[in-house]
Amino acid sequence: MLDNDILKTLVSKEEIKEICKKLGDKITKDYKDKDLVVVGLLSGCLPFMSDLVREIDLYIKTDYIKVSSYNGGTSSSGHIEIKSDLNLCVENKDVLLVDDIIDTGLTLKETVNYFLNVKKAASVKTCVLLDKPEGRKEKIEADYVGTKVENCFVVGYGLDFDGFYRNLGYVGVLKEEVYKK
Ligand code: IMP
Ligand code: MG
Repeated sequence: MLDNDILKTLVSKEEIKEICKKLGDKITKDYKDKDLVVVGLLSGCLPFMSDLVREIDLYIKTDYIKVSSYNGGTSSSGHIEIKSDLNLCVENKDVLLVDDIIDTGLTLKETVNYFLNVKKAASVKTCVLLDKPEGRKEKIEADYVGTKVENCFVVGYGLDFDGFYRNLGYVGVLKEEVYKK
């Protein structure tokens, strides 16, 4: 059913599996002697976070935060509003933020600042499944990237259109007729 709305597959189930294994191995090596807390950005992170953490062979803790980014206006947390905060204390911990995609970079940039300045994490790095380099407006690159994608609207594996398609097992481009409906 959902497949019928997809114009083309950008990242297949098999590719996603390989990406998670590769990133998980790298993170396992990089954080060997660190105190790692992996923090997922809800809701888009969920499928990726779930697969990624199972490829990390370390004693890690996991937690989640829900933020929404906005342009203009500032608060103590910068250009993000914290919709739902962490449960864990990450002071002096090494935090790895996990999200589905980096596009303009605003969400990740402001969330990194929040973890450094407000949460007082020892270090903050970022991991995304997808990178849309052409969409970038902020000066930030993710530290761990699954794969780069072209500058088009993608759905699946956590990424939504109007709240739907997060449960699609792969990443694809929506047919024009679907979002023009
Ligand atoms: P940024 O702050 O512009 O980097 O945006 C990151 C957020 O925008 C992601 O966490 C997604 O929720 C959303 N986003 C960006 N590009 C897409 C897309 O192609 N499909 C679905 N959501 C997207
Ligand atoms: Mg998101």
